[in-house]
Amino acid sequence: MNSNLKALQKFELEENDLLAEVLEGLQREQKQLPCKLFYDARGSSLFDQICELAEYYPTRTEMEIMNKYIDEISAFLRNKCLLVELGSGSSKKIRLLLDHLEEPAGYVPVDISEEHLMMAVTSLAKDYPKLKIIPVHADYTKAFELPSLSLPWSHKVIYYPGSSIGNFTLSEATIFLKRIAKLAGRTGGLLIGVDLKKDKNVLETAYNDKNGITAQFNLNILSRINRELDADFDLDQWRHFAFYNSDEGRIEMHLISCKNQYAHIDNTELFFRMGESILTEYSYKYTLEEFERLVSNLFKVDHVWTDEERKFSVQYLSVR
Ligand code: AVJ
Repeated sequence: MNSNLKALQKFELEENDLLAEVLEGLQREQKQLPCKLFYDARGSSLFDQICELAEYYPTRTEMEIMNKYIDEISAFLRNKCLLVELGSGSSKKIRLLLDHLEEPAGYVPVDISEEHLMMAVTSLAKDYPKLKIIPVHADYTKAFELPSLSLPWSHKVIYYPGSSIGNFTLSEATIFLKRIAKLAGRTGGLLIGVDLKKDKNVLETAYNDKNGITAQFNLNILSRINRELDADFDLDQWRHFAFYNSDEGRIEMHLISCKNQYAHIDNTELFFRMGESILTEYSYKYTLEEFERLVSNLFKVDHVWTDEERKFSVQYLSVR
């Protein structure tokens, strides 16, 4: 292992927890699965493919904004910051920041997919031999501890790109932001990507790509449950469905049962009516005003960068 890779702090999701969480979600009135289950090895790589799709504007637009304003953004982050990235995935986006920041104190990628995380940091360590990298395998939607670091750093910046904040409902987002403000500390900041409200068609196309990659990504959650929880979902009898719920301001992804059917998970029998859905993901979209209102108790919005069409925003928030 490269010498700039510090020891991996392991933080394992317990299998029991996973089973309980899945069963609890599938016994609600609106059946539901946690979207973090998307990101096993196959799901993480399908997500990387989604990011390259013509229809999926968020990744492209976010990188366009980052590229255009990287000098301004770096100035807000200042020297010697410790960068903590939540949901670092393949750690592609961080490279632009690493190329422009002066003496970053270290990089702490946090991801739920251990395989993806370790592949990403191995390649990053090769390309940035002087960078201190401290990978953390954790579910950042739950409380987690950063390993104690013996690095000199002046302040922390939490990097949370991609509009993953959209996965949370408003009340969940508030709880999450409180934890993030605490993690960043008094001198810290949050560099966050936030997807903006826009034409319903553009939104729905982004989650219904013509090659069906998003459909495969959605259905993969059932193959994962089959494999890891010894379940027997018949993948041919479920279909992907995503739409923009304009009343709630969110994309909703569902899996729709193609017939009346049963599935079994660890001795529990579950019945699904034909046409019934399992909710797998919310992806909330914000106006700049709505987002500011959401964060304003905890953070000061120091700067907002957007693309010309105002499809997406990158924002630097400092802890109040
Ligand atoms: C990673 C949560 C930001 O909501 O757009 C992409 C996930 N789901 N296509 C999003 C996703 C379907 C993505 N986030």
